[in-house]
Amino acid sequence: MSDLTGKVFVVTGGESGIGQAIALRAARDGANVTVGGLNAEGLDETVAAMSNYAGDGMALPTDVTDPDQVNAMIAGTVEKFGRLDGVVANAGAFVKQTSFAEMDLDDWNRVVAVNLTGVFLCLQATLKVLLKQGEGGSLLATGSSTAIRPIPGMIPYTASKGGVHQLMRALAIELAEDKIRCNTIVPGVTRTQALMVGGPEYASRGLKYVPMDELVEPEELAALVSFALSDEAPHMTGTLLKVDAGRTSG
Ligand SMILES: NC(=O)c1ccc[n+]([C@@H]2O[C@H](COP(=O)([O-])OP(=O)(O)OC[C@H]3O[C@@H](n4cnc5c(N)ncnc54)[C@H](O)[C@@H]3O)[C@@H](O)[C@H]2O)c1
Repeated sequence: MSDLTGKVFVVTGGESGIGQAIALRAARDGANVTVGGLNAEGLDETVAAMSNYAGDGMALPTDVTDPDQVNAMIAGTVEKFGRLDGVVANAGAFVKQTSFAEMDLDDWNRVVAVNLTGVFLCLQATLKVLLKQGEGGSLLATGSSTAIRPIPGMIPYTASKGGVHQLMRALAIELAEDKIRCNTIVPGVTRTQALMVGGPEYASRGLKYVPMDELVEPEELAALVSFALSDEAPHMTGTLLKVDAGRTSG
């Protein structure tokens, strides 16, 4: 267990899957956590599930592509919990698999808006608070093993996640002097609704690329994230936090 007592984080996409596991683990480890995302009911469920944990939760429905909503999510968090220690910019959009030649511009724009511009907005709004506080902090964004080992038919998703990886690398250097650590979460093929929506066939197609031939559980990623958010990792920055059952090895 990591100790996040007294810390405050925002987790986007906190209503389901990896984001929900991250938010719950952080609250269990003592942090106060705002969950932001599109699905208000799911966000409330996440906060309700925190009721027995050391940290408190708050649900703030937020579309991460909208700068005003993102600013309100960050301001609302500081107003409720009195400070901010970081963000996990995890919300992500997926796209139907198709060849590059037949890809829709609308699909490209939607995926880039959520996965890359949405991350930029959440990181920048958080950073402004962290710089003002002057006590360092932690910025995390969810990338993908697909950005390291692309799979055919997923070009917009792969490109958007590749952008996230590079954004975090560059930020780690730019913010090093401010002691603001920047790391990328790299899930392998993980058991969430995003994967299950395509049915067992879709999941087993994903596993074709996984040496261990097993799905990652969201809680495995959450444990690593909690450590990365804690004071036990003061020099962990510019890193890929991979839990991918070997998908990107070799
Ligand atoms: N499941 C996997 O195999 C896998 C693999 C690699 C990376 N990822 C990444 O992990 C992250 C979490 O995905 P997941 O697998 O938990 O799936 P998920 O569908 O459970 O989570 C995605 C979340 O993002 C939210 N979201 C989508 N658009 C949004 C918007 N505009 N504003 C706010 N929230 C929005 C959704 O409501 C949802 O809660 C994503 O960034 C995804 O790309 C997942």
